[in-house]
Amino acid sequence: MVKEIQKFWQARNWMKSNESFLTTWHAHVGYKLDLFDSFAGGAKVQEVAARDELNGQLLLRWVEVGLEVGHLKKTVTGKVKSKKKMVKFVSAKSKDSVGILLREMMELHIPTLMQYPDLMKNNEQLSYLEDKFANVVAETSALLEKASVPPMIKWVNKYKPGNIVDFGCGYGGYLKKIRDADDQVTLTGIEISKEVADEAAEKLKSRRIEVRNEDMQEFLNSGEQVDMVMLHNLLYYYPPEDRPALFKDVASILSDKGTVTVISPLTDSGHGQTFAAAFNTFMTAHKNLYPLPTEKEIEEAAKEAGLKVKMSKPIIKEGGWFLVGLEKK
Ligand SMILES: C[S@@+](CC[C@H](N)C(=O)[O-])C[C@H]1O[C@@H](n2cnc3c(N)ncnc32)[C@H](O)[C@@H]1O
Repeated sequence: MVKEIQKFWQARNWMKSNESFLTTWHAHVGYKLDLFDSFAGGAKVQEVAARDELNGQLLLRWVEVGLEVGHLKKTVTGKVKSKKKMVKFVSAKSKDSVGILLREMMELHIPTLMQYPDLMKNNEQLSYLEDKFANVVAETSALLEKASVPPMIKWVNKYKPGNIVDFGCGYGGYLKKIRDADDQVTLTGIEISKEVADEAAEKLKSRRIEVRNEDMQEFLNSGEQVDMVMLHNLLYYYPPEDRPALFKDVASILSDKGTVTVISPLTDSGHGQTFAAAFNTFMTAHKNLYPLPTEKEIEEAAKEAGLKVKMSKPIIKEGGWFLVGLEKK
């Protein structure tokens, strides 16, 4: 009898723990189909189904879940209305939207994790589809900027570099913020993805920031000297065994008083280790992505390259995300 009760409670607990997944699923579907916009002013399910040409039964089920998880509400006239925060923070059309994170989670991370049994059993790894997800990843990375830009600007104000290169610049958010704070510094972004580089160039136009669509290795091999290098959310594109050489290459293009900033989640940081572990499950499932660095690894690779750690600052503790500042010895 006791055993049966225990079994029942275990089943109940697993069902309960699934509820939070439903919330994410609901928000993701709403984001993809602009449903929070469709219900923003209050609407009947059949009206939206007819107008947006959607399956009415499935839309009704989505609405029922939304009412349960608190993303939608019923009006006095019996219409369904989106909660304001869903329209503001999830809807793709909103300038405050963070919905892209749902896309990255539900379309990239969860499908990868679902393949774990097969990958493990067949001793296989996936190929990370850089082209397919380059824009998603550039956009989600940019969401970190709120936390990381202020200490970055402090760093720039302290060292006053004459020129800065941002390797793997994504949409160039850091370069843009640095330009806002410093009118004189020469700024260059290097981005391997054509789509992302084009978007960055568009976002940065009229700010005197050059965006080059090339592999950063080309810049490193060119011998062009700079006062500051940014390596932000980039180290997991490099196998750990290649990172010491990367730091050496970076040090070799730095001027005498040169500095480097590294942004990355770290695996031994004492903060955000659940997130870091989840991040690594994704990385290791792919043959062209690599585990997150440890703080010690960065310190050692930097030291070998003649750089020393001058700053190590958690920027998002829950995610184990750090900003590490290096200076030429
Ligand atoms: C995760 S995003 C980070 C973007 C930005 N640095 C940030 O922190 O917001 C990494 C970017 O690096 C680019 N990238 C990866 N390997 C690269 C390489 N070898 N050369 C130039 N860019 C690269 C990717 O295309 C992607 O846009």
